[in-house]
Amino acid sequence: MSDRLVLDYNRMLAGATDGRGIDHAQIEAQHVRFREVHADVQRRREQGRLAFFDLPYEKKTVESIRAFADGIGQAFDTVVVLGIGGSALGTIALQNALLKPYWNQLDDEGRDYFPRLFVLDNVDPSTIGPLLDRLDPRRTLFNVISKSGTTAETMAQYMIVREKLSSALDDDGVRGHLLFTTDPEKGVLRRIADQEGISTLPIPPALGGRFSVLSAVGLLPAALAGIDIEALLAGAAEMDERCRTDELSDNPAGMFASLQYLAHTERAAGIHVMMSYSDRLYSCGDWFSQLWAESLGKRLDLAGGEVYRGPTPVKALGATDQHSQVQLYMEGPFDKTVTLLSARELPSDLAIPRLYGDVPELGYLGGRTLGELLEAERQATAGALAQAGRMNMSIELPRVDAHAIGQLFMMLQIATVYAGVLYNVEPLDQPGVELGKLLTYGLMGRDGFAAPESINADPKYQVR
Ligand code: PA5
Repeated sequence: MSDRLVLDYNRMLAGATDGRGIDHAQIEAQHVRFREVHADVQRRREQGRLAFFDLPYEKKTVESIRAFADGIGQAFDTVVVLGIGGSALGTIALQNALLKPYWNQLDDEGRDYFPRLFVLDNVDPSTIGPLLDRLDPRRTLFNVISKSGTTAETMAQYMIVREKLSSALDDDGVRGHLLFTTDPEKGVLRRIADQEGISTLPIPPALGGRFSVLSAVGLLPAALAGIDIEALLAGAAEMDERCRTDELSDNPAGMFASLQYLAHTERAAGIHVMMSYSDRLYSCGDWFSQLWAESLGKRLDLAGGEVYRGPTPVKALGATDQHSQVQLYMEGPFDKTVTLLSARELPSDLAIPRLYGDVPELGYLGGRTLGELLEAERQATAGALAQAGRMNMSIELPRVDAHAIGQLFMMLQIATVYAGVLYNVEPLDQPGVELGKLLTYGLMGRDGFAAPESINADPKYQVR
């Protein structure tokens, strides 16, 4: 029990939230509905349409990742991931949760001789340029990650890196400093790899970017930096086992999805805040935001009707945002749920010295720890939100380690596909981001693509 993730949803219920939460009859009805939802997801899984379910069991991929990480991977003191969206956010979440804080500032010994890890999740020249200027290409491995192999941001990053490598190394050297993680058969990146003999790792064809953190996409950079990927996958497998039941009360992913869906559709609470009470878990909020938003925000339902559905994920940090967003959560519109994400055991703690014993406003802090203060703030926020009639729940990890993060990732991925069934939308596609991509191609001068007309804005409506 103590190694298990716990979902505590007491404060989502009407009884704990002054009648504003979900009532027992709705939960009871959801128990019945969930059996169908679960059966639907199982059917898709059996048809091979939900490839993320298989990732914890892909022994061959793990072996090739291990072989690379423990072999050639050892030759580098810096790893740079080039990717965006689902090809980057999971790795950032893993890095921040599971590597020592300030990892890239530690010396070799502090990092146990594992490499520094940078993830370029954007194309802002003012951060990428200075980073590349500081790196020695001869000591750096560039892991280019793109399922499609055509994403403009990633390919632009790659072209810049490629030239930098070519100016420092011969052709063999360039090849040795590149690793592509991409589709096993399709795409430009795959073609370049085949033509030039660049090492690759596969992203399973049926796997969408935002469901790929437990594939080579997240596992290779994690393994290179010394993260226990076997424990990560074991945690994910354990969560998969827990979620094989169609009994809603025993299925944490089912319960999370059902509560968020009921809060949205029955209580008009369509803004779903993921509030981490741990700096190390904060980036999991970005990863979850992408998963929830891109999977569930859809114009069409499964029958092709225009429905414009989807919850709005928001990321927050406790205790920091108690002095920022929580005012809105407490007294603003009743349109949100808050999920407080925390670990029962902190990676480390810090004592508050017994100073100012005669000053009542400060003396009570002396002899306690920062961990105790953070935990008190989490409980106080949860209680205060409930007292103010605000639905909130807790996801408690046993600790911040690879096994627990594996459980969390798997639970939220499974919850997302359950939510897809509940909202009656396709969670695996993202047609809404296509138009922006096409217009970008047009603006960048790619043959056959047009720039948007509205970009020629009327100066009459500009304040200068
Ligand atoms: O979840 C998704 O599918 C997207 O966020 C993709 O991961 C993102 O657009 C990057 O795509 P690709 O891996 O093809 O470069």
